[in-house]
Amino acid sequence: MSQGGGVHVIDHPLVQHKLTKLRDIRTGPKDFRELMEEIAMLMAYEVTRDIATEPVEVQTPVAVAQGRVVSGKKLAVVAILRAGLGMLGGVLRLVPAAKVGHFGVYRDPETLNPVQYYCKLPQDIGERDVIVIDPMLATGGSAAAALDYIKRRGGTSIKLLALVAAPEGIARVHKDHPEVPIFVAAVDERLNEHAYIVPGLGDAGDRLYGTR
Ligand code: PRP
Ligand code: URA
Repeated sequence: MSQGGGVHVIDHPLVQHKLTKLRDIRTGPKDFRELMEEIAMLMAYEVTRDIATEPVEVQTPVAVAQGRVVSGKKLAVVAILRAGLGMLGGVLRLVPAAKVGHFGVYRDPETLNPVQYYCKLPQDIGERDVIVIDPMLATGGSAAAALDYIKRRGGTSIKLLALVAAPEGIARVHKDHPEVPIFVAAVDERLNEHAYIVPGLGDAGDRLYGTR
């Protein structure tokens, strides 16, 4: 994968329509989960745009056709817990053969620093193209910690897929991991005094799972 560092805002009308419904305070957990999965699937289509293919011949009922199939490095998807799980099903619908890693981290409510509590990655992560998923990129601390960890385990080809980002989070990931391209559906205005994205969509994990 070679899209280079930088921010890619996926402004497809369907992504923007579904994101607007996702943000709506009236959207309950059931619809929130469905929308997040649908958005993740649509975004994964763009994130995987540059994966390698090779030519093959295929016999149709009529004649031989020249086609292409995916080749090259295999994929791994790493979900940042909890909220990244809300995107996982959507991404896997497009790339069902991808291996899945989990990176458990929460923000300390006082310091806002990421606290890591679980991690399990595919053993061959270094040989795979990696897509890290988390709907919210706020201070960027959680994503930067996940990227650090994956690199320490040998990951080299990594993309970050988020739904909503704050400029502060983008700046943090750019600073710590300048080569990692960031794909988002929206870059919002700022963080508030509790480091929530404004306007954002609130607490993604709580809205997914109804925990508040
Ligand atoms: C949320 C979100 C990100 C993180 C973003 O997780 O899902 O992982 O905050 O914030 P940051 O960019 O400032 O690190 P949270 O800590 O609320 O945990 P949860 O997903 O388990 O609810
Ligand atoms: N985590 C969230 O879920 N939402 C935010 O706005 C910031 C961090």
